[in-house]
Amino acid sequence: MRDLRAWGFVLALFAAVPAAAEGDPVRGRAIVANRQVGLCLLCHRAPIPEERFQGDLGPDLAGVGSRYTTDMLRQRIAQSPRDSIMPAYLRSDGFERVGAQWRGRPILTPQQVDDVAAYLSTLK
Ligand code: HEC
Repeated sequence: MRDLRAWGFVLALFAAVPAAAEGDPVRGRAIVANRQVGLCLLCHRAPIPEERFQGDLGPDLAGVGSRYTTDMLRQRIAQSPRDSIMPAYLRSDGFERVGAQWRGRPILTPQQVDDVAAYLSTLK
C-alpha cells in the first residue's frame, strides 16, 4: 500500500511538468505562416520565404530561438502582456465586446501554442 502511494506521487509529478517538449516544429511553422490561424506574419517577419508581405509592427522572429527558451516562447505566445498589441493566444477571458462565436475560446489550442514555440525555438 505504501509503495502504491509513492508511485501515485511520482505520477503526479510527471503530470505537473509542462508539455513544452511535445510541440511539433513543422506544424508550428504552418500555423505561423497561415493567415487564418496564427496571423503572426501580419505583425512579424519570419524566415518563411514563400509568404510575401510580412509585417514589421513586431520584432523579426529570425533568431528568436537563441534569445528565449522554448518555455519562454510558449509563455510569450500564450499570455501576451496586457499593454501589447500582440494577442494573448491562450487567453479567453477579460476581453470586451467579443463576437458570440468567439466567446470563451482562445485563439489557439495549447497543442498549437506548443507547436509554434517548438518552431520558433528552431530559429537560431
Ligand atoms: C497584432 C500584431 C501581432 C501579432 C498578430 C503577433 N505579434 Fe508577436 N509581437 C508583436 C509586437 C508589437 C511585439 C513586441 C513587443 C510587444 O509589444 O509585446 C511582439 C513580440 C513577440 C515576441 C517576442 C519577440 C522578441 O524578440 O522579443 C514573440 C516571440 C512573438 N511576438 C511571437 C508571435 C507569434 C508566434 C505570433 C503568432 C502566433 C505573433 N507573435 C503574433 C505583435 C504581434
